[in-house]
Amino acid sequence: MDVPVRFLPTQTVAPETFVVRQLVGEGLAPNLAMLNTMVIRGAEPVIVDTGAALTRSEWLDHTFALVEPEDVRWIFLSHDDTDHTGNLHQVLDRAPNATLVTNWFTIERTAADGPMLPLERLRILNPGESFTAGDRTLTAVVPPTFDSPTTRGLFDSTSRVYWAADSFGTAVPTETDDIAELDPGFFRETFLQTQKMLSPWHRWLDPVKYDRLLQGIRDLDANVVVGAHGPALHGRQINSALLLMEELPYLQAADLVGQADLEVLLQLLGVMPAGEAMPAAS
Ligand SMILES: [Fe+2]
Ligand SMILES: [Fe+2]
Repeated sequence: MDVPVRFLPTQTVAPETFVVRQLVGEGLAPNLAMLNTMVIRGAEPVIVDTGAALTRSEWLDHTFALVEPEDVRWIFLSHDDTDHTGNLHQVLDRAPNATLVTNWFTIERTAADGPMLPLERLRILNPGESFTAGDRTLTAVVPPTFDSPTTRGLFDSTSRVYWAADSFGTAVPTETDDIAELDPGFFRETFLQTQKMLSPWHRWLDPVKYDRLLQGIRDLDANVVVGAHGPALHGRQINSALLLMEELPYLQAADLVGQADLEVLLQLLGVMPAGEAMPAAS
């Protein structure tokens, strides 16, 4: 069974800055995931993350509707998870003038997946380092939640858009362009749940030290924060999200999906007859 995925209209979040959006899980769960990537169409166009292999041909169509493949000069990889690297080799093939911006640990961690990433096209970017993409400077900034040690967000000081990798994500109940559309309380609950799932180490954080990391994000003075798994946040929404991040060191672990939840889903899908249960795990 394939996971249901639907492309949403591409969103312009800042001048020459576009988010290619997918909605995942319709019909399977009440809370849906988003899967975003970004294109910066400046003097030297940048593709930010490369989506999932599952929707390869549509993703390539949506992305290259924004920029001609031969015009792409940079491919930024926020980290090595498959929903970010799924079409990387295809983009490298179709965009021969593009340099891949990532870090060495990503090269190591993807080495078992197949062909090695092309070292001669590689630009290593570690936290705090910047590169110039034509008319703008892009800086690697580690986001406040992440699920891979390779994770770097990307801050564009021209548009003041911060690409937050997996961070600042939230589930949505349906197609959502802006968190202002969500029912009261929904964002708070699902945003915190998403951060806790992503970064289960939140319980062991020193709140004072963690606040220094959050202050670094505040100091970016971003106009837009958008990552791969939620609607773009604008203006004061960013501050609201950072205030929720401040709570993470004080919160208990996320509730996890359990066997009983799986069985409800299987019954819903008609895979397992109602009233039946699998043998309990020991
Ligand atoms: Fe990830
Ligand atoms: Fe992700």
